[in-house]
Amino acid sequence: MYTFQDYYHNHVKLSFKDNPFTDKPGHVLILCRYKGQWLFTKHPRRGIEFPGGKVEAGELPREAAVREVFEETGGTLSSLSYIGQYKVEGRHETIEKSIYYGTIAGLEKQKHYHETEGPVLFKQLPKKLKEDSRFSFHMRDEVVEMSIQHIKALFTI
Ligand code: GTP
Repeated sequence: MYTFQDYYHNHVKLSFKDNPFTDKPGHVLILCRYKGQWLFTKHPRRGIEFPGGKVEAGELPREAAVREVFEETGGTLSSLSYIGQYKVEGRHETIEKSIYYGTIAGLEKQKHYHETEGPVLFKQLPKKLKEDSRFSFHMRDEVVEMSIQHIKALFTI
């Protein structure tokens, strides 16, 4: 278990064990690869971030991951692997998010992307991601950095 503070100084716990915090996470985050690049979406306020969002009523977390990737990027997944979970204890609420690694089979251009400005591709992540204001605050703590290290240890990317 790793603990640290996010960009807004909220307390974060991160673990790569199997569902360490909950079997029913309320949120999902999907670190996606497409044709040798990282696939993000652009949130209109927060900036560039990996696709993800809330698990809807009656939905399984994996189903939410498939839906969010498509809604936010037009991407269809060819594989989806569970990576870990994190918990953010905010001032008003606590959220629990499952992290997945997804490979994208195809990107379908959409007229509208649900709550986002659509797909953004990067060959490599900027070295100083935490200081890069183009990126969402979700991307600017240890969650993404450590999850990518974990993915690199498990998969050939
Ligand atoms: P959207 O529906 O995506 O616009 O977000 P929201 O503002 O309705 O909030 P959400 O339920 O997604 O999250 C509630 C709060 O939890 C946010 O205001 C953040 O403080 C925090 N939060 C959500 N996701 C993350 C994350 O991935 N990392 C960090 N550090 N905090 C998060």
